[in-house]
Amino acid sequence: MADKKTFYVTTPIYYPSNKLHVGNSYTTVAADAMARFKRLTGYRVWFLTGTDEHGQKIQRQAESAGKKPAVFVDEIVAWIKKLWKELDIQYDDFIRTSEPRHKDKVASIFKRYYEQGDIYKGKYEGLYCTPCEAYWTERQLDDGNCPDCGRKVELIDEEAYFFKMSKYADRLLEHIETHPEFIQPSSRKNEMINNFLKPGLEDLCVSRTSFDWGIPVPFDNKHVIYVWLDALSNYITALDYGEEGGLYEEYWPADVQLIGKDILRFHTIYWPIFLMALGEPLPKTVFGHGWLMLQEGKMSKSKGNAIDPMVLAGRYSSDALRYFLLREIPFGQDGVFSLESFITRINNDLANDLGNLVSRTLTMAERYFDGVLPEPSAQAEATDQELRGIALKTPDAVETAMDQMKISDALAELWLLVRQSNKYIDDNMPWNLAKDPAQNERLGTVIYNLIESIRFVAVMLKPYMPRTPESIWEQLGIKSEQGLQQWESLMKWGQIKPGTVVSRGEDLFPRLNLQAEIRAMRVDKPAEEVDDEPGQEEEQAGLINLEQFQQVDMRVAEIESAEPVPKSDKLLKLEVNIGEDNRRQVVAGLAGYYKPEELIGRQVLFVANLKPVKLRGVLSQGMLLAATDKNGDLALTAIDKKIAPGSRIS
Ligand code: MSP
Repeated sequence: MADKKTFYVTTPIYYPSNKLHVGNSYTTVAADAMARFKRLTGYRVWFLTGTDEHGQKIQRQAESAGKKPAVFVDEIVAWIKKLWKELDIQYDDFIRTSEPRHKDKVASIFKRYYEQGDIYKGKYEGLYCTPCEAYWTERQLDDGNCPDCGRKVELIDEEAYFFKMSKYADRLLEHIETHPEFIQPSSRKNEMINNFLKPGLEDLCVSRTSFDWGIPVPFDNKHVIYVWLDALSNYITALDYGEEGGLYEEYWPADVQLIGKDILRFHTIYWPIFLMALGEPLPKTVFGHGWLMLQEGKMSKSKGNAIDPMVLAGRYSSDALRYFLLREIPFGQDGVFSLESFITRINNDLANDLGNLVSRTLTMAERYFDGVLPEPSAQAEATDQELRGIALKTPDAVETAMDQMKISDALAELWLLVRQSNKYIDDNMPWNLAKDPAQNERLGTVIYNLIESIRFVAVMLKPYMPRTPESIWEQLGIKSEQGLQQWESLMKWGQIKPGTVVSRGEDLFPRLNLQAEIRAMRVDKPAEEVDDEPGQEEEQAGLINLEQFQQVDMRVAEIESAEPVPKSDKLLKLEVNIGEDNRRQVVAGLAGYYKPEELIGRQVLFVANLKPVKLRGVLSQGMLLAATDKNGDLALTAIDKKIAPGSRIS
């Protein structure tokens, strides 16, 4: 085993502040596909994921849930582990930053920095974004708010330890410039250089004193270690960093650290500097993928069923969800998740292309050969050569795409083979061959080639959709034939043995009715309870049914800030809280009716799924409901008594 090449891949460790949504699952599914692909192609792989459990944000969330942080995170971590099981995430280790194996090592790393003079004591007076756990300077703010999440920052003033970032800045810049593979996709590299490195790195505050949910500074336990220093270290503490002969020697530096683009700064500036200070090599590649968005904006857990990965995997299968995530969005770019595009992918790629190929082929194998795989002729016709040619070059094409982290392209390559196989059926029309006994050998060759091609597809599909190949192997009668499931078996055509008994199983992916799915996922009630579509007469009378009404996502919003929009005497810019830490910026024509300060703290009715628009260049993400009378007076809607922001109106 020792001669095998190694591959170490990591995901960010997630904040167990809430259940994860499908956007968070995206990184982990991608990392799992990478890890599985490398295992399949002969690497010794280590795949690490975990949870980032300390910090002010978690402490506050636990407090508002009335729980101790340790109890609060335990519950969410259990849910996250269940989700990864549901999504077939085959990690080698799951690190929790609250574990002693991590905490002890972080404490000694911190002590080492201090002893070697990289950390010194001072006072921090400045700005902090708790949801992002990030320090900002006045200059970096965006309209006074956190430039990453757009939320309010807090002023903090406390004694703190600082890390001398500037000491390493030149070395880091040089590393980035001489290692083009370090920051991927390369388009993100300049952003890091121009926005953070070139303007000069300030020393980073690496401890806090105003809360205690963290790892104490070992020599000054009034302080807890800054959560990002704590969290980033997980990538090496999980490898038993500092212990001889352990995983660290085997796997570090990481081959790929997958993260979302929003946390690139932490991973390509802080993290490499922390490693440099330890004298350790830097990860080979940090890959910042794009965001998965909803049509109506950013994802948040409060947006309901349609983005709960557990619900989606439960209803449509985890393979379908994994396929969608990996295929739909070119890895690295932003993408939109909608139920419509998800169902369309299931119907087109999985039911029509793949599912049909398997069911048509197996039906014919049973009908024409009683399910016993016939011997192919030694003579290959043009269509046979074409199919075989594509099948044999697909593994390389898939591997090349994966090596460039183009996961979606890898699947597109694989689907060329799926489609070619369907075309092969249409070209050869086995049902016509079956009418002529003289064509029996030809018919047998066609069926054999199709079965072999399906086997090729199943082997290559495994990293992306781990369950479907199992079902295909069962149908092809090769469930216990490990050799025919390996990557090496794709080097030569014709490995499956004639005489193998195949049997058609259930359809892999039944076609779905888009409208029924939209109905079922949008409303809380089962689909059967929803009224039928309105009739023509009702429509003409302007009547809508309950389902149509429920398409409007109406909620209680609490106004948290209000200010005039420059150069407009009508508009106010508001920030409203629509629940579960989800805030929206809204531009409303209220200036003639309310003073900004009168609005703060009010709860109003809010439409949360309107397409965002820009008014006077300012983004507005929703609409407050107000009444106007014929004299032109306006009154905001109100709710009868205080209720949790985000509560649905129905
Ligand atoms: N705890 C930190 C990471 C520490 S790593 C040393 C953190 N956690 S997080 O839970 O907020 O986010 C985890 C990951 O989910 C990030 O990579 C983030 O980019 C990703 N995503 C969150 N929402 C997402 C989408 N809507 N789409 C894609 N990825 C998204 O940050």
